[in-house]
Amino acid sequence: MRDTHSIHKNWFFCQGLQKTNQMPEQCQRIEIPHNAVDVPFNYFNEQDLHQDFTYYYPLACHENDLVKQQIMRFEGVMCNAHVYVNGVLVQQYSDGFTPFDVHLTPHLHVGENLIVVTLSGVENPNIPPFGGMIDFLCFPGIYRDVSVASFDAVRIENIKVETCNVLTQPSVNLKVMLQELAPYTGPLNLTFTLVDPDGESIATEQWSVATVTSEALELNVFSLDKVQLWDLDSPKRYQVEVTLSGMNINDCYRTLFGFREAEFTVEGFYLNGSRRQLIGINRHQSYPHVGYAMGKRAQQLDADIIKYELGFNLARTSHYPQSPYFLDRCDEIGLLVFEEIAGWQHIGDKAWQQKSIENVAAMVKRDWNHPSVILWGVRINESPDDHDFYTQTNAMAKRLDSTRQTGGVRCIQNSEYLEDVYTMNDFILTDSQLNPAAAVNLRSPQNVTGLDNPVPYLVTEYAGHMYPTKRHDCEVWQNEHVMRHLKVLDASFANPNISGAIAWCLFDYNTHRDFGSGDKVCYHGVTDAFRVPKFAAYVYSSQQSPDNGVVIKPVTYWTRGERPEAKALPLVILTNCDYVDVQVGSGESRRFYPDRGRFAHLPHPPIVIDQMNQGDLPLGDWGYTWSDLKLSGYVNGEKVMETELSASPVPTQLEVTVQTTELNAHCGDTTRVVLKALDQKGHLMPYFQDVVRVEVSDNLRLIGPGALSMEGGVASFWVRAYQGGQGSIQIQSQVFALENIELMVKECLVEKKDNKEVQHG
Ligand code: GAL
Repeated sequence: MRDTHSIHKNWFFCQGLQKTNQMPEQCQRIEIPHNAVDVPFNYFNEQDLHQDFTYYYPLACHENDLVKQQIMRFEGVMCNAHVYVNGVLVQQYSDGFTPFDVHLTPHLHVGENLIVVTLSGVENPNIPPFGGMIDFLCFPGIYRDVSVASFDAVRIENIKVETCNVLTQPSVNLKVMLQELAPYTGPLNLTFTLVDPDGESIATEQWSVATVTSEALELNVFSLDKVQLWDLDSPKRYQVEVTLSGMNINDCYRTLFGFREAEFTVEGFYLNGSRRQLIGINRHQSYPHVGYAMGKRAQQLDADIIKYELGFNLARTSHYPQSPYFLDRCDEIGLLVFEEIAGWQHIGDKAWQQKSIENVAAMVKRDWNHPSVILWGVRINESPDDHDFYTQTNAMAKRLDSTRQTGGVRCIQNSEYLEDVYTMNDFILTDSQLNPAAAVNLRSPQNVTGLDNPVPYLVTEYAGHMYPTKRHDCEVWQNEHVMRHLKVLDASFANPNISGAIAWCLFDYNTHRDFGSGDKVCYHGVTDAFRVPKFAAYVYSSQQSPDNGVVIKPVTYWTRGERPEAKALPLVILTNCDYVDVQVGSGESRRFYPDRGRFAHLPHPPIVIDQMNQGDLPLGDWGYTWSDLKLSGYVNGEKVMETELSASPVPTQLEVTVQTTELNAHCGDTTRVVLKALDQKGHLMPYFQDVVRVEVSDNLRLIGPGALSMEGGVASFWVRAYQGGQGSIQIQSQVFALENIELMVKECLVEKKDNKEVQHG
């Protein structure tokens, strides 16, 4: 049987390219996932990342271990990994975003063995995405999980589950890839079991093959009467289990998948036969201070924020394949994914292109069973046309997975249409377009494609560098940021030929000196780098049904003197209420309705109170008394929310939000802590400043510095668990009372049995 162990602990790390047959003394003991360079929040030199590093893992083997075939799997190493076993180079893998396996056994002996991994943060122009300028950083390290599994002479290397006719006569088509790890000539038996979302085994079948073959074994199986669909609101997943047996051969492979039909058409995107307007967000995979090295819980949190907090239904993994934990979570919660290969504007020489074609294969083979993945991105983001290259990337994706459409993100009009979906970054919304009377906020698809007929079309980026915004930027700036997101979103809803639009981007990210605000940060997010929302985030959350959470977010700091000329209007209120009653001070309350005139296509247009419609709200002028604001939101005639903004906010409470207080030791588990300075009405104080000091118990590590300034009233950080036992986080502020967070860290061994995670608590 297959026996898989995650190996997070007992790794050693050294800077530079070190000996590959012996561990130097100065090595530091570390845990995986690991970032080779700790990065300040901003104002660092990105050259610090451009170095080589060496990792060591001592592996003890007993005689019994050598009877088996040991395979070490690396989920993500940035980048150009060379793996040595007892001094012998066994594997080289350049891509930093997809996994690779190392067959250890032929190089192992009884006793202590040494696995050595060298990697490089140097932006090697021979390896995609490098060679040109890129607007993001690639952070070196063994930054995703590593595991070791033992097999018999033949193993199941991969499984592809294809579903057919899911809406009419559902069936499953299975492909099983076997791998011969040691010579084997006997027959093999396979058993296939299908388990429904309730855990019931609903079908099983057996078949035999004369012996191992390098061709995929295909099984056209199972017509099923009825299936539970994978859909956005009810993402049901089934499991396929395949067992393999032969002479001294036993293996078992399980994978989850879903029954769903996803198709981009000229009339938009259809999921299970229903048109779904795609409201998407671009996600990088970086985090402050540790770059890419964050474990399962942090990856899952991003998916949860995208779907539940912000209300998007699609994430684009810009600009590379991302953590399997992120994708698993998207499957689990019903969040669609557009996944793409690594690259940014630059296409290298033929050898580089060949690597990129291989990257398509690696991405597709890793992720073909994810129901959330609806589109493969097979172009280098925003690169020029290259007929031969892109014919090959498309062909590779199609050969491996004919069930999904391809796209390829471009920014050049009339570029060659080789994919199924014309995916275009549309940054047309510039100052000249901000005239409220301007009708067109997105390019016409037919102008973009230059084709005679309409084709499936998706806007893959907008906003971003056209209007960088910090979470604590002034109110005028925030309003403009919000307006731009509203306008493009409205325009994407307006044209039925546009399947939807994907905003740039989820959070502020570290980047090269050639981009961003001079401090190595692009402030393009709808949230800050710690995923704390800016006002623009509520453009999206307010598009959800109030059943999923009522939103009333006035885009204001509610002061007399924040805006030029002491103007409080226009006051934009992002809301999914039918109407909102607005009361200023003790004045009479006035009722305002969503602005369906200007934002006719949005499910929930904002309310815009301006000079024309304000009536007699007692706002006064410079020199007049400034009063509290009360907003009461109604849905179906019922008051569903009331919120008040103070005319005279004073710091009243330090709101402490902790993602979880139960962590697992030794697997890169983290909890996010967000501290917010709130006033007496529970609102964030955008110009509040304080220094908070954070201390954690010995079994935890604070990610980032121990003294944090509260920028825009907020300080956030992640804490990572190491040893098991009780833990604590202490937060000391100059203004608020001492806070102490108690945590429990479970000393657990995460293991994978038969491809399924087993936790020994
Ligand atoms: C796009 C690019 C993104 C990001 C964005 C900023 O051109 O594809 O990676 O740089 O601009 O708005």
